[in-house]
Amino acid sequence: MFDVNEIRKDFPMIMNRPDLIYFDNGATTYKPQAVIDAVTGFYTGYTSNVERGDYETAARADKAYADTRKIIARFISCDPKEVVFTANITASLNQIAYGLMKNFLKPGDVILTTEAEHASNLLPWYRMEKEYGIRVEYIPVDRQGVCHTEAVRRAMHENVKVIAMAHVTNVLGSVQPIKEIAAIAHENGALMVMDGAQSVPHRKIDVKDLDVDLMGFSSHKMCGPDGVGVLYGKYDILQKMDPVFLGGGMNARFYPDGTIVLKNAPEKFEAGTPNIEGVIGLGAAAEYLMSIGMDNIMAYEKELRSYFKEKIEKLDNIEFYNPDNETGPVTFNAKGVFAQDAAGYLGSKHICVRSGNHCAKILHEVIGTDQTIRASLYFYNTKEEVDRFIEAASEISLENAIGIFF
Ligand SMILES: Cc1ncc(COP(=O)(O)O)c(C=O)c1O
Repeated sequence: MFDVNEIRKDFPMIMNRPDLIYFDNGATTYKPQAVIDAVTGFYTGYTSNVERGDYETAARADKAYADTRKIIARFISCDPKEVVFTANITASLNQIAYGLMKNFLKPGDVILTTEAEHASNLLPWYRMEKEYGIRVEYIPVDRQGVCHTEAVRRAMHENVKVIAMAHVTNVLGSVQPIKEIAAIAHENGALMVMDGAQSVPHRKIDVKDLDVDLMGFSSHKMCGPDGVGVLYGKYDILQKMDPVFLGGGMNARFYPDGTIVLKNAPEKFEAGTPNIEGVIGLGAAAEYLMSIGMDNIMAYEKELRSYFKEKIEKLDNIEFYNPDNETGPVTFNAKGVFAQDAAGYLGSKHICVRSGNHCAKILHEVIGTDQTIRASLYFYNTKEEVDRFIEAASEISLENAIGIFF
């Protein structure tokens, strides 16, 4: 295990703002100095485009960019050529939906998903439904948001061609049995698409072991820069998928009659100048997390969450929605207080949480409310911060939560 107080020194935001308790890690995370150095090192030492220049700094940028593909491949246990850089997981999931729609699916085919998904893993499929006649169907989840394998088996039928699901859901932190669900998908000739936004930053992900066909995640939720994401795909599937964006860098040749010869994956999905500094920063973030150890991160967060759970369950003014989930956010409301007012009260105490529907707009069907407060932890949070949070949360009431300005 690691010493959290030593880890905290790696994060300038923690050192510069010791007054803040940052429990909004499901939205985005703090960046360690190693990531900041990697990004500024590119800006101050070898700024250039990639795969276009024949000079020394361009060669350095090419190498740093290509090295990050290898780092990410090691991070999620795949081949570097199966790693595509995108703008974020939203872009990855849109690319997946478009590529599957164009090259794998036909009208009447069914995408199975759940009502606990983030908008990024629903809206691209809804568009396929509206514009191309593909149907979206839902697998029921339990009150903790978990999708059980029996429910998946019951929902399967011959038209199901894709199961698309978050590994860890963003509101309730439900951990879905992805490996078993992928096996059911494959037994039935369907593909498994995994939204890894809330799992890849927190646990060791081995895409080959899970046997998912396509997967995405965002750099900014794992200590990396904003504006960078990853799309992982089994190579033969990537090769068959059409890219959303066309332009420079992704074509091998094109002709005046409009014929375009694409490069192979992953390059064919990376049209235009990529977010080079962001990709390099993502590489530094993945190295940083691996140096701490993904198993250590998961074990630490599990213990911290169980401490949090024990304390929050004792508060009479709080309704706590996801006691059974061992990982992920703590999701709650202060009884009788609108979520945003309660979050504003916590904000006035320098505690950063998120309130609202968290882009999972149909989840209220499952937990009976569409406005919640989410406290999402990361490996740099501490039990002392949980104690300060609990003290503030115990004070939330209708009287003191309304009219807070900060
Ligand atoms: C489960 C899940 N999927 C997708 C996303 C979208 O991430 P991004 O905004 O980085 O594309 C999020 C963001 O919160 C998420 O939690």
